[in-house]
Amino acid sequence: MQSITKLGIFTSGGDAPGMNACIRAAVRTALHAGKSVVGIYQGYQGMIEANFHEMNSRSVSNIIQLGGTILKTARCKAFHTAEGRQKAYDNIKAVGIDGLIAIGGDGTFTGAEIFSREHNIPVVCIPGTIDNDLYGSDFTLGYDTATNTVIEAIDKIRDTAASHDRLFFVEVMGRDSGCIALNAGIAGGAEAILLPEKATGIEELCNQLESAAKSKKSSTIVIVAEGEENGGAYNVAKEVKARFNFYDTKVTILGHLQRGGSPSSFDRVLASRLGFAAVRHLLSGKTRIMVGIRGNEIQTTPLEEVLNKKVFKLSEDMLEMMEVLSI
Ligand code: F6P
Repeated sequence: MQSITKLGIFTSGGDAPGMNACIRAAVRTALHAGKSVVGIYQGYQGMIEANFHEMNSRSVSNIIQLGGTILKTARCKAFHTAEGRQKAYDNIKAVGIDGLIAIGGDGTFTGAEIFSREHNIPVVCIPGTIDNDLYGSDFTLGYDTATNTVIEAIDKIRDTAASHDRLFFVEVMGRDSGCIALNAGIAGGAEAILLPEKATGIEELCNQLESAAKSKKSSTIVIVAEGEENGGAYNVAKEVKARFNFYDTKVTILGHLQRGGSPSSFDRVLASRLGFAAVRHLLSGKTRIMVGIRGNEIQTTPLEEVLNKKVFKLSEDMLEMMEVLSI
C-alpha cells in the first residue's frame, strides 16, 4: 500500500452545484488526518500546466453555499494523449502529490482510470454532474439542485401558460440522460416528457396532447430533454404546431442556468459525505474507485465497473404515472 502524504484535488468536466461543498469536506478531512492538500485548478488542463495552489482550512471557508467550483474546471484534449498525461504526472510528482481526488462525471473518471494505471498513482473519484447518469450512485452532486431549479422555472411558466391558455415546450439539460426531465416533469405536473432513453415520436406526443386538449386544460407543458430524438424543443414545437394549429405554442430553453446556483441542503450533505468518505478511502489505500450513495449508505464501486455498466435510472412505472396524473 502506498502511503499518502500530499493529496491533489480537482474538479473536471461540467460544473455542478455541491462541488464546492465537496472540496471543503475533502480538504478538511485530509488536513484533519495530518496530510497536505494541493488544489489543482482547471482539472486535467491545470495538471498539464502545473496550475497548483497549496490549500489550508481557510482556503475552503464560506464556500459550502456556493455553486460552480472554486477550483475551476475544463475539458482537456491534451490529457487524451500519453504525452499530455506524462507532462501532468511529471508536474504532480515535482510538487509531491502522491494521491488524487477527482470530482466529475464519466469523462473525468475515464481520464482518472487511465492516468492511475499508467503512472501508478492512487485516485478516488466522486460523482459530480447534474445529469445523474453514473452507475454506482443513486445520486450525483448537483442533480437535486438542478432539478429544483427546473421545477421553479416550470412553476413560473405554468403561471403565464395558464393565463394565456398556451402550450409550452420546456427544454432541459441531459444530453444522454432523462433524469432531470422525468423528475422535474413529474414534480412540475408536466403533460408529456420526451427523454433520450425512450423514443417518443411526434405522432405519440400528438396523441397525448389531443387528450389534454379534449379535457380542456388551460395550460399544457411538455418537458423536452436536450438529447431526445426529435431534435430539441424548437423542432418539436414546430412539428406539433403544424398538426395542431389551434395551439398557441411557446418554447423555453432553460440552458446553463440549470448548472448554477446555491446547492440544496441535499446536495450539501451528499457532497460532505462523499468528500469525507473519498479521502478516508484514499488514505486507507483504496484506488480506482468511485464513492457513491446507494440506499442512503456510502458505497464504493471500482471505476472500471462505473465506466462499463450501463446506467438506467428511469422507471417505466414513473412514466406511466406521469401520464395518468396529467389527465
Ligand atoms: O453537466 C452536464 C451537461 O449539462 C449536459 O447535460 C449537457 O449536455 C452538457 O453538460 C453541456 O456542457 P457544456 O456546456 O460544458 O458543453
